[in-house]
Formats: sequence, structure tokens, C-alpha cells
Amino acid sequence: MKKFLWSLISFITFIVFITSSDVASISDSNYLTIELFKRETNSPEKQRALLTLKYSKLFRRDVFIPLVNEINLDFSYYGLITIGGQNFTVDYDTGSPDLWVPGIQCNSSQCGTHNKFDPVKSSTFVPSQKNFILSYGTGTVISGYEGQDVVILNGISVTNLTFGIALVDGFNTIYEEDGILGLSRQIGQVSNPGLIQKIKGKKVLNHTIIAFHFGRYKLKATDKSFMNLGGIDVSAYIGNIVYNNLINQTRHPGTWMISLHDIQVDGISIGGINSSALIDTGRLYFILYKNVALFQ
Ligand SMILES: *[C@@H]1O[C@H](CO)[C@@H](O)[C@H](O)[C@H]1NC(C)=O
Ligand SMILES: *[C@@H]1O[C@H](CO)[C@@H](O)[C@H](O)[C@H]1NC(C)=O
Ligand SMILES: *[C@@H]1O[C@H](CO)[C@@H](O)[C@H](O)[C@H]1NC(C)=O
Ligand SMILES: *[C@@H]1O[C@H](CO)[C@@H](O)[C@H](O)[C@H]1NC(C)=O
Ligand SMILES: *[C@@H]1O[C@H](CO)[C@@H](O)[C@H](O)[C@H]1NC(C)=O
Ligand SMILES: *[C@@H]1O[C@H](CO)[C@@H](O)[C@H](O)[C@H]1NC(C)=O
Repeated sequence: MKKFLWSLISFITFIVFITSSDVASISDSNYLTIELFKRETNSPEKQRALLTLKYSKLFRRDVFIPLVNEINLDFSYYGLITIGGQNFTVDYDTGSPDLWVPGIQCNSSQCGTHNKFDPVKSSTFVPSQKNFILSYGTGTVISGYEGQDVVILNGISVTNLTFGIALVDGFNTIYEEDGILGLSRQIGQVSNPGLIQKIKGKKVLNHTIIAFHFGRYKLKATDKSFMNLGGIDVSAYIGNIVYNNLINQTRHPGTWMISLHDIQVDGISIGGINSSALIDTGRLYFILYKNVALFQ
């Protein structure tokens, strides 16, 4: 029997993705739906500027070709989380494993506009003597100290989750969300076990499945964004689900990494792609450079 693992389904956009065999009866409706908020930008120039800011450290020079994209103005998606009774918005990020939010002592300008965690206002907070530094693929560096508290995601409560309280928030001011909730199965530097491992341990979900639907700008009025936990909203996609194996888990343990062989734009193949691709809900674009492709 295959090991019972978390599965991730990313529908709409271009790829539907899942692993593991826990999908026998995913068409039932016994799952949770968590609303996602979306940040849009209605100017291609502004969007390009934001992209360059977000990814400038990833690329040594600006490699963005000036495409004018009339419909895809969907910049970021994020949702709610409660830590020690305090509410935050976080990226539900399948590309990383750790949870962090800004701390009340953070004085940097990036922390300025965000909700900040105040340990004093939480009766369940357990401090730790440990500091943390996290760096993300975009070049962002977040640092601060660790603590444990009760974390609630859409009514599911887990105790003693270790999370980061950021004192230096390398997030650029372009981010509306306060922090990041890592949803990969990697061993977290801070949150180990992470929130999804803790939720899995509680056995409250009917299937170990996370699914995302990213509403598109073009369909704004009706196309709500959401994350499903424990099942899939079958009304959110058409056709059949396509299954991909995760690639080399010895080399990339716990990542949602698949093989990518082609991309089509309006049915026309780009071709020549033979690469790994990370299913990363913390990013919103295809990034293709050399042999490496990052999806989402
Ligand atoms: C699991 O399925 C049951 C029905 O079989 C449903 O009542 C329950 O709400 C589901 N749990 C979650 C967390 O979705
Ligand atoms: C946190 O958010 C939840 C859900 O929106 C809300 O019911 C609750 O009142 C909020 N709590 C605080 C302290 O703002
Ligand atoms: C932020 O400013 C306050 C008041 O000036 C200071 O006490 C605190 O140590 C500063 N925090 C950090 C992380 O520098
Ligand atoms: C949470 O951590 C505290 C302090 O480390 C400990 O006393 C408590 O038993 C832990 N609770 C759970 C549910 O693990
Ligand atoms: C997976 O990665 C490990 C470590 O890099 C390597 O030793 C192994 O050969 C790889 N397996 C495959 C099938 O590529
Ligand atoms: C794709 O890459 C893999 C691993 O690098 C290689 O074994 C395979 O032959 C390549 N396929 C094509 C069609 O180039």
C-alpha cells in the first residue's frame, strides 16, 4: 500500500495535480471551503512593476518581456488564520513549510501596515528562546523569534504549533497579506510539524486533500477564490482530473514538484521543455528560465 500522504489539487489555471491514492470518493461534498481574498491590479504597467519588485532578487536582471495581458490581472490570493486569538491574513503557500506573521515589536516599514502578533494578548502563547531566519525563492528574508500557540484554520484548531514572529519583515510593501502559511510537506525550519501535519494528526478531514480554485479577473462577478480542505469542489473544474506523480522525493523531500514537458498558449505548444516544476500557490506566474520552470 502506498503511504497515505497529503494530496494537493490545483484546479482552474492550467494543470490539475494530485498524488496518492486517497481519491476514491472525492466527489462527495464533505469538505471545508475557505474563502481566498484576491489582490488585483488593473494596469499592465503596474503589474509588471510589481512583478519586478517581487522577483527582482530572483533574477539578476529584469527578464520580463513586456507582455500586455488584458485579462490576467490576478496578483495574489490569501486567506485568514487565527493565532492565539488574533487574526491574520496569510498566503496559503504550497511552496514552503513554515508559518510566520509579523510581531508587535517589528518596527520596519514593511511591518507597518500589517496586523502584528502580540504575545501579551494571548493567554495560550508559549515563547521559545529560538530565533529564525527564513529565505524564500523570491529573495525575501524574514527573521525573528519562535513561539507556540493555538492556531485555527477555518474552525480547525491545533495546539502548540510552532510559528515565527517576524521582527524583520523582508516582505515588500506590495504584499497585502500579513504573513505566510506554509502548506508543503517539507520539514519546516520553524513549524515542525507544520499545520497540515497537525491537522492530519487530528483526523478531522475526510480525505487528506488540499485543493485551490483561483478565481480569474475576467470572471470576477461569479468566480470566487477558495481553498478546499479534505475534498474537492467538483463544480470548480471541468473535464477529468489528471494525476501526476511527484518527482524525486529523495532529492526534493516534501515538495509538490512534478515533471513538466510542455506548455501550450492558446493551444500552441511552446515545446522544448523538459524540467521539474514546483506547484507553488505562493507565486502567481509561470516563471521559465533555462531548464527550470516554476508553475504558479
Ligand atoms: C466529513 O464527512 C462527514 C459526513 O460523512 C461530514 O459530516 C463532515 O462535515 C466532514 N468533515 C469535514 C471536516 O469536512
Ligand atoms: C477573527 O475573524 C473571525 C472570522 O472572520 C471573526 O469571527 C472574529 O471576530 C475575528 N476576531 C478578532 C479578534 O478580530
Ligand atoms: C522597536 O521600537 C521600540 C521602541 O522604540 C523598541 O523598544 C524595540 O526594541 C524595537 N524593536 C526592534 C525589533 O528593533
Ligand atoms: C503544549 O505545550 C505546553 C508547554 O510546552 C505543554 O504544557 C502542553 O502539554 C502542550 N499541549 C499539547 C496539547 O501538546
Ligand atoms: C533522486 O535524487 C537522489 C539525490 O539527489 C539521487 O541520488 C537519485 O539518483 C535520484 N533518483 C532519480 C530516480 O533521479
Ligand atoms: C528529459 O530529462 C530527463 C532527465 O534529465 C531525461 O532522462 C530525458 O531523456 C529527457 N527527455 C527528453 C525528451 O529530452
